[in-house]
Amino acid sequence: MPEISIRNEKESDCTRISEVITLAFKDDPHSDGREAEIVELMREDSALIISLVAEVDNKIVGHIAFSKVTINDEFIDWYGLAPVSIAPKYQNQGVGSQLIEEGLKRLKKLNAKGCVLLGEPGYYQRFGFEADEKLILPDVPAEYFQALSFNSSIPDGIVKYHQAFGE
Ligand SMILES: CC(C)(COP(=O)(O)OP(=O)(O)OC[C@H]1O[C@@H](n2cnc3c(N)ncnc32)[C@H](O)[C@@H]1OP(=O)(O)O)[C@@H](O)C(=O)NCCC(=O)NCCS
Repeated sequence: MPEISIRNEKESDCTRISEVITLAFKDDPHSDGREAEIVELMREDSALIISLVAEVDNKIVGHIAFSKVTINDEFIDWYGLAPVSIAPKYQNQGVGSQLIEEGLKRLKKLNAKGCVLLGEPGYYQRFGFEADEKLILPDVPAEYFQALSFNSSIPDGIVKYHQAFGE
C-alpha cells in the first residue's frame, strides 16, 4: 500500500482537484460528468465545509468534499459526503477509505450529528453507513441513499444537498 497523506485543500490545488474528480468519474455509468463542476460551484459559494486531498509522493491522487444538507428545509447539523474521487491508478489501495475516515473524524469535531451519501452500499457499509427509510433523497433508489448518525438517532425527512447538485 502506498504512503498516503491527507490534508485540507489549498487554493493552488483547485485545478488538480478538478482533474482528479473528472478522471475518477470518467467511466462511471452513474455519473453525469458534473462532479468537478459541483465542487467548483460549492467552493465559490464557500460551501465546502470540509475539502481534503490525499497525496502520494506529493501528488494529489484523491479528494473528498463535505457540505451542509437540509432535512425538511432545515439545517440540523447533518452533512453530505459528496463527491469522493480517487484517480483510477490509485483506486483500491486504501486512499478512499483514509479520506472518508479522516473526513468523518473532522465532521464529528464540528459537532455534526450525522452524514448522508449516495453510493454503493457494498462500499460504504464498512464505515457504518446504512439506508434508513425515514431519511429520503427523492428520485433515487432508497438502498443507495445512506446515513451515518453520530448520536444513534436518525431524523425523519427529505434531504436536500447544496443547490450546485441540482443546477
Ligand atoms: C469508490 C472509491 C471512492 C473507493 O475508493 P478506493 O480508494 O478505490 O477504495 P478503498 O481502497 O478505500 O477500498 C477498496 C474496497 O472498496 C471496494 N470498492 C471500490 N469501489 C467500489 C464500488 N464502486 N462499489 C463497491 N465497492 C467498491 C473494493 O472492491 C475494495 O473492497 P475490499 O476491501 O472488500 O477488497 C473510488 O474507487 C472512486 O473514486 N471511484 C470512482 C468515483 C466514485 O464512484 N466515487 C464514489 C461516488 S460519490
